[in-house]
Amino acid sequence: MSKEVVLSGIRPTGLLHLGNYFGAMRNYVRMQDEYDCYFFVANWHSLTTHPDTKELQSSVYRVIAENMACGLDPNKVALYIQSDVPEIAELYLYLNMLAYKGELEKTTSFKDKARSQPDNINAGLLTYPVLQAADILIHRAVKVPVGKDQEQNLEMARNFAERFNYRYGDTFPLPYAFNYNSELVKIMGLDGNGKMSKSENQMSTLYLADDDDTIRKKIMKAKTDSGPTETNAAKPDYIENLFTLLKIASDAAVVKKFEDDFNNCQVRYGDMKKQLADDMIRFIQPIRERAAAIQADKALLAKVIKQGAEKARTSADATLQLVRKAIGMNYM
Ligand code: ADP
Ligand code: TRP
Repeated sequence: MSKEVVLSGIRPTGLLHLGNYFGAMRNYVRMQDEYDCYFFVANWHSLTTHPDTKELQSSVYRVIAENMACGLDPNKVALYIQSDVPEIAELYLYLNMLAYKGELEKTTSFKDKARSQPDNINAGLLTYPVLQAADILIHRAVKVPVGKDQEQNLEMARNFAERFNYRYGDTFPLPYAFNYNSELVKIMGLDGNGKMSKSENQMSTLYLADDDDTIRKKIMKAKTDSGPTETNAAKPDYIENLFTLLKIASDAAVVKKFEDDFNNCQVRYGDMKKQLADDMIRFIQPIRERAAAIQADKALLAKVIKQGAEKARTSADATLQLVRKAIGMNYM
């Protein structure tokens, strides 16, 4: 039986961080042995908000290097750059005819971005979810490992797929957001506000490229409080977030010790943050070093990018043939 198809993308708009790792990359790495995987750098999407392309190339290379440094194996998965697969743009065109202005204007991410860049509310921004649907449907993917912030985009991708199937005949399976835990993940900023993010919230976001001192400084400043006053209390979200980080970086015994201390009202957040900083440095350091080495190896990067584009185009072309035939765009 053929394996289920998995796809996900990351925009090259800044440094990757622990939110990306938790919401996306950690799942990619686990999925690569079980599924037929396509992972890509969404450089077309980045133009909707970052028209200045001075740093785009280095950012694309960094996303590829950081994904490989986290354990993604380009021999197992198709690791590619969106703009290397022109078939996506053609599918985007067809899907645009099935997407309505009203529904696009209502999406939360469009409204947020329109508010934050009032002088550049471009059509690409409006049709961002259509391009994302094309990314997914071009490989007929069914599982999409992403963080919680992407739920609405996935819902729209399903709507466009259903509309296409209804009008032109069954062509696409319906894609769903995926995380190994039962719930999708959102990693908050260390200040307890918003989410860790590539471009905002920099002092409260832990980047995979942060040096040891920066990691320690950021963690020691993380928001805490004076601790629970009754046993087995519920954790405020910013404390829960610290425990989530502790769970990736620290041994199970360490996590259990601080969980027990919390439940007995004996937790000392100063000690917990010191421990978290030590363990997080040990976690991030090898990723940072591997990523730097890969980024410096231009021959390796070139080989990976070429191989990824070939795999992705083979699959994309097969879907596009079906799509053209379904619409009747297959001429002699
Ligand atoms: P950013 O929001 O930092 O620009 P992207 O939008 O490119 O990052 O997201 C890439 C992937 O990382 C997506 O799957 C997204 O859901 C996930 N992601 C981003 N930030 C977080 C976060 N703070 N918590 C969980 N997942 C996240
Ligand atoms: N919109 C996604 C984000 O901001 C990035 C993305 C583009 C994506 N195309 C995708 C994610 C296809 C999953 C599948 O994170």
